[in-house]
Amino acid sequence: MQRTRYRPRRSRPAQRLPGGTAYPGGVLAAPLTSAEIEGIRARFPILRREVNGHPLVYLDSAATAQKPDSVIDAESDFLRTSNAAVNRGAHSLAGEATEAYEDARGAIARFLGVDDDEIVFTSHATEALNLVAYSLGTASIGASSPGRGAGSHPGAAPFALREGDEIVVTELEHHANLIPWQELAARTGATLRYIPALDHGGLDPEAAARIIGERTRVLAVTHVSNVTGGVTPLDRLVPLARAVGALVVLDACQSAPHLPLRPRELDVDIAVFSGHKLYGPTGIGVLYGRAELLDALPPFLYGGSMITTVTMERAEYLPAPHRFEPGTPRLSQAVGLAAAIRFVEEVGMERIAATEHVLAARLLDGLARVPGVRILGADNPAPRVALASIVVDGVHAHDAGQVLDDRGIAARVGHHCAQPLHRRFGVSASLRLSAGIHTTEDELDRAIDAVAGIRPFFGLGEGAGA
Ligand SMILES: Cc1ncc(COP(=O)(O)O)c(C=O)c1O
Repeated sequence: MQRTRYRPRRSRPAQRLPGGTAYPGGVLAAPLTSAEIEGIRARFPILRREVNGHPLVYLDSAATAQKPDSVIDAESDFLRTSNAAVNRGAHSLAGEATEAYEDARGAIARFLGVDDDEIVFTSHATEALNLVAYSLGTASIGASSPGRGAGSHPGAAPFALREGDEIVVTELEHHANLIPWQELAARTGATLRYIPALDHGGLDPEAAARIIGERTRVLAVTHVSNVTGGVTPLDRLVPLARAVGALVVLDACQSAPHLPLRPRELDVDIAVFSGHKLYGPTGIGVLYGRAELLDALPPFLYGGSMITTVTMERAEYLPAPHRFEPGTPRLSQAVGLAAAIRFVEEVGMERIAATEHVLAARLLDGLARVPGVRILGADNPAPRVALASIVVDGVHAHDAGQVLDDRGIAARVGHHCAQPLHRRFGVSASLRLSAGIHTTEDELDRAIDAVAGIRPFFGLGEGAGA
């Protein structure tokens, strides 16, 4: 049976730098000055504290970012003055709360350059990715039987998967952008394939061209690796998926805080990120979806606030985004996330990206000079954000992290929810240093100095600054 291929209605020409990272105007702005970074630091209360007798150096922003006072205040002001259940109440507070919630949606839509009704609030990126995979699974019910459509959601038929179809991911993915696709493949009979990582942790567009083909229905890919910080060459990958009518799902968790993010310019159908990595609260994530896609896809969770009519037998659903937001939504979190968006917009995403560019070079150069330290993906020529995962020869990542913690430096240890990529690098764990908007070059130097002290601390050879 001939199948309808998905062709998105809107496809705007992108203006891109190498790597597919869209920078408005195609140019990087000037990096932040030291005085500007000091001004930014003053807005993060947590940076005033000490850890283990040292001023805190927070280099775990890739796991979760610290919060500026404007975010903390926005959330607590909402709770103090405007808290009420949205959409339902006739009273003034309910109206104010609804307005604040929808204003937050609008702020995020403008940040991404998309329409308000293309923004769905979720709990985090993990839920957003599960939402998409689950909804595609529902769209696929019955699709393998001849003559049957997309279960009880006929509008979703073009997105149904069945045996013989392929879902393509990459070896770089965080588990959140891998396991939901494994499960979708298991539920639909589709096959999960992946674009292998190269030795340097990048992706080979030619390998991608061999894997993405007529059978591909979904390409799910990370924008920035949470292990190497490398930017995915979307400008090479997305056209391959477009050519075969596959959906493109972008995990923008590690790009949204660091680079301008324009899903339409990148020509992706779905883009997700977590509020807490973008200086916003925990408990809130964002799913951008093309309007025609969101309106066609079946809901993920079912209940109140997402329906037009309910009888004892059936229900009819509201259009997106409300069909995907059943129950009482995350209100103060949405308001806090909007404050975080205003905060990064005040600084300017182009300037943040330019500053990270400088920090990334300093971090990599400094770590590369430390004997006995291997940087995962060091040779990847792709642009990168200021994040590096390292393996210290002869020292377990957890022990290495402990040495840094003793000096007040917060870093991440483990597999960072990316076991396949660690396996590809031949290691089980690494120590990750990841910068934020408040990170100074001095802090990076302190961290590099501390890394140089790790092997000598365990009696393993020389290291500068030990
Ligand atoms: C690349 C990437 N994707 C997805 C996630 C999942 O984010 P969350 O735990 O906020 O849902 C993370 C978090 O570390 C990540 O780095």
